[in-house]
Amino acid sequence: MNVLYAASEAVPLAKTGGLADVSYALPKALKQRGADVRLIMPKYEEIPERYASRFSRIGECNVTFGWRNQYCGLLMAEIDGMVVYLIDNEYYFKRSGLYGYDDDAERFVFFSMAVMEAARYTGFKPDIVHCHDWQTALIPFLLRTRYAFDPAWAYVKSLFTIHNLKYQGVFNMELIKELTGAGDDLFDYDGLGFYGDANCMKAGIGFADKLTTVSPSYAEEIQTAYYGERLDPLLAYRREDLTGIVNGIDESYYDPMNDSSLHTPYRSSLSRKRKNKLDLQAELALPQAADIPMIGIVSRLVEQKGFDLLAAIIDELLQEDVQLVVLGAGEHRYERMLAEAAERYPDKARLWLGYSDRMARRIYAGADMFAMPSRFEPCGLSQLVALRYRSVPIVRETGGLKDTVRDYEEAAGSGNGFSFSNYNAHDFLFTLKRAIGLFRDEKKWKEIVDNGAREDYSWNSSAKKYMDMYEQLLACRKEQET
Ligand code: ADP
Ligand code: GLC
Repeated sequence: MNVLYAASEAVPLAKTGGLADVSYALPKALKQRGADVRLIMPKYEEIPERYASRFSRIGECNVTFGWRNQYCGLLMAEIDGMVVYLIDNEYYFKRSGLYGYDDDAERFVFFSMAVMEAARYTGFKPDIVHCHDWQTALIPFLLRTRYAFDPAWAYVKSLFTIHNLKYQGVFNMELIKELTGAGDDLFDYDGLGFYGDANCMKAGIGFADKLTTVSPSYAEEIQTAYYGERLDPLLAYRREDLTGIVNGIDESYYDPMNDSSLHTPYRSSLSRKRKNKLDLQAELALPQAADIPMIGIVSRLVEQKGFDLLAAIIDELLQEDVQLVVLGAGEHRYERMLAEAAERYPDKARLWLGYSDRMARRIYAGADMFAMPSRFEPCGLSQLVALRYRSVPIVRETGGLKDTVRDYEEAAGSGNGFSFSNYNAHDFLFTLKRAIGLFRDEKKWKEIVDNGAREDYSWNSSAKKYMDMYEQLLACRKEQET
């Protein structure tokens, strides 16, 4: 079975969030199950030279869209046993960062078209094209429209995965019409039309053969108005084709026993884990003490992640004998809130502003607890990495957090973390204080950590569900071909 996996980011090449982790680990897990999955993504400037230099050019073509005629180079390499193709166009992708440019619509329409064109030069005939989020959501639409009668794409099935419904790629309708060359009839309410604009995410949801999202709870939530981001009616309409499959993490990529960012490797020994805490405290010039509970956060600093709750209770929290270490970057208001707290509580709080894989790993290892009070969370990988590094997650019960973290019940001795249900600052504070209290009870704390350690957060069972989905699509394809 041949699957072309089109995504806008993947580790170890380029990353802004969890999509990049998934786009590395899921294809790898699927490959182990026998599918020939190949990744295709843009050749960004930020791909580290040690990887960029491994790619060789295997073809080139021109992509014609609207009045444009753009060069498209196709590069290929094997990274960690996976075949990866890169789409090369310096005008669109030789820039710093991945997204956030005024011409993002044009950049990702180009990328989507380039995937369709370049696939002719790979010698690889996909049965299925698997797309992710708005940046590649136009591909299922192109398959059904501009490429519907193209022999290179005949009978190819599409799967579209929603990682975050919040980011939809909504652009001026005339612009998307012009870029895609699609007719007016495809821009009404049943097509890409969206309150007077055009919505790329809608192209994926409306036109893909099957849909998945990254947890069962989020699959339900997005069919309601509160979480649906105005696409809930369409998602409810397609519910028969929509499945929630929880993400996993690659256990060799995230392995505290084998992590070059740590001085003391560990697996289940909490005393060895605490050496990493002392080490982090020293690096961040916090008082060094193994018995002060440390709460870690590694996150994009955006509304989704629940920083309004933290802002409301940060002073009260920092009255406790506790340390708070945050790594992140994002909205200015949250950066300022956290920087000011670190100034007010120099012995208790630190903000590491920016993006750092090394610091992220040091926090996962050093912290005793990991907070994620998200307003919504499609899946969340950070809580899974935290569990892998034996840091106890404290989360709001939403989306994938609800599906992966279970509140500790003292009487039963069950649960791998702490959770609260309402988006309410005092419930968050109460839950944090409960965790801090239990941290002082070594036996119970070990029980919580051990409960987490016994569970499987790898891709094993979820990769199987994706394989089943691919099998269904393949069966459909075969039926159509005969
Ligand atoms: P999202 O994709 O919504 O940002 P996830 O929890 O799925 O949330 O994934 C976030 C990923 O990005 C995790 O691997 C996390 O460790 C990483 N990450 C987030 N912010 C930073 C940062 N500032 N520096 C390093 N890694 C980060
Ligand atoms: C998105 C979501 C996050 C999810 C990730 C990978 O960025 O915000 O919850 O874990 O995608 O699927």
